[in-house]
Amino acid sequence: METKKTQATSEQMTDTDLSEQIKKVTKDSHVRAENTELMLSFQRGQVTLQQYKLLLCSLYEIYQALEEELDRNSNHPNVAPIYFPAELARLEAIEKDLEYFYGRDWREKIVVPAATKRYSHRLRQIGKENPEFLVAHAYTRYLGDLSGGQVLSRITQKSIGLKGSEGLSFFAFPGVTSPNLFKQLYRSRMNSVELMEEQRTGVLEEAVRAFELNIQVFNDLQKMLDVTDNKSQNRSLTHSTPAQTLQI
Ligand code: HEM
Repeated sequence: METKKTQATSEQMTDTDLSEQIKKVTKDSHVRAENTELMLSFQRGQVTLQQYKLLLCSLYEIYQALEEELDRNSNHPNVAPIYFPAELARLEAIEKDLEYFYGRDWREKIVVPAATKRYSHRLRQIGKENPEFLVAHAYTRYLGDLSGGQVLSRITQKSIGLKGSEGLSFFAFPGVTSPNLFKQLYRSRMNSVELMEEQRTGVLEEAVRAFELNIQVFNDLQKMLDVTDNKSQNRSLTHSTPAQTLQI
């Protein structure tokens, strides 16, 4: 009887592949990220204009740091395989969205909580000290954006009542025809990165940290929104001056 041969394909994954390990170690963190109040608002189709604008401000700060560090380290052997600025870069798209919502002087109106500062600080630190960890952060943000992009774009558009696609550039990846195929390519590139055992452990720990930093940002943003909501409620009760409200 003929024995069945397994066909080795370039897409076949093994337990030791970085893409599989990283997905496994961040599984619980992904569930926790999905269940933050901010992400639940998206999933329920209840995201408000204030929530989305405030999120865009933080994403601006985060992607500015991430993409500057990726650009600076683009020739590093552990970064080059996962460097896809034409397909993935988000910064310009976020700038467009911010201009749409805040006007031409949007740069003066950016407000971010402490957790966002901690996240961008960590990105700049590893860009300088451990560029091989950048793959963990690029994975966490870009593969997440590619996974939820289309659905979240439609939900956001409907929730905040946008007519066209203006204000939603962040979700659009014009350089990626098929997000699923691109994710496969990205995973195979991640798997081609050569890492010593210690570095691999470091990358996996960094991925968990990347999710944690995102969760802290979402929680801080929600707290900021709660404060503004309370303040505006109090204002209507006590007639306090507009200068007392937190500017978003
Ligand atoms: C993948 C849902 C938030 C990071 C995915 C996938 C779904 C999903 C359905 C595809 C799973 C698969 O292909 O097996 C959601 C929902 C979210 C959310 C509903 C909340 C609204 C986030 C956040 C992050 C994130 C906040 C990180 C900051 C990722 C990553 C992947 C992913 C990195 C790729 C996993 C892999 O293939 O290795 N998400 N997600 N997600 N998500 Fe999320």
